[in-house]
Amino acid sequence: MTRATKPSPAGGQPFKMYREIASWWPLLSSPSDYEEEAAFYLRTLLRGCEREPRTLLELGSGGGNNASFMAPHFEQAVLVDLSPAMLAVSRQLNPRCEHVEGDLRTVRLDRRFDCVFVHDAVTYMLGESDLRQAMETAFVHCNPGGAALFCPDHVRETFEPSEDHGGHDSPTGLRALRYLEWTWDPDPSDSTYTVDYAYLMRSDDGSVRVEHDRHLEGLFPRADWLRWLEEAGFRAERVPFDHSELEPGTYELFLGRKPSV
Ligand SMILES: C[S@@+](CC[C@H](N)C(=O)[O-])C[C@H]1O[C@@H](n2cnc3c(N)ncnc32)[C@H](O)[C@@H]1O
Repeated sequence: MTRATKPSPAGGQPFKMYREIASWWPLLSSPSDYEEEAAFYLRTLLRGCEREPRTLLELGSGGGNNASFMAPHFEQAVLVDLSPAMLAVSRQLNPRCEHVEGDLRTVRLDRRFDCVFVHDAVTYMLGESDLRQAMETAFVHCNPGGAALFCPDHVRETFEPSEDHGGHDSPTGLRALRYLEWTWDPDPSDSTYTVDYAYLMRSDDGSVRVEHDRHLEGLFPRADWLRWLEEAGFRAERVPFDHSELEPGTYELFLGRKPSV
């Protein structure tokens, strides 16, 4: 069943995390935490391709943490994100990648890539039309014989309310961040859930600032994921990913192979 959907606000939601707080991103989500999962994403994409891939497009690449492990395996990597502030963070980490500001629902680069990767930015697709647009963007940028991988944080069938916390210290000085992440679903009859974040940000002078940031995220049943990928032109496969050493639960990823004929 397709649930009631909400359109995403044009230009994205006004998240503090990707705007005024973006320079704190590496202390919220450290690149080193991504090594294991990035290796799994890379293996899955390689398995989906008919021949050795040479080019990578990441849609919604954020601070570029996954890209820092994945891009070195490709001759060319292009990273697209809606947020200029997050692109600036990623440029520091991935100076050899090309960075492009764009909306993953509508961006058109007039180029094709062997692999298209859409990590957790896909959770900001709030309704069927947003998610189908993201799949279409991946399809038009994917070479025949190539593959696209989508990594939602949850699917409808396994969604559970949860909480998490974390953060990191800067290698020098007092600058540090800690966060609380609180995931809940105010209305299980629609295609979204809510994630409330509280950030404690300590500056080098020892002062601490507190911010609340609410993210609205999308939630879709497996069958919709698979059907919409097939309708976009991919051969779709569900890929379970047990990431439990780092975070509780099993993720469900979606691999789309673009047929070569
Ligand atoms: C959690 S961050 C991604 C972090 C990334 N996985 C990494 O490895 O660093 C989510 C990103 O999605 C981006 N985003 C949200 N909606 C978008 C859209 N419609 N088009 C492009 N990027 C989008 C945000 O700007 C943000 O940078």
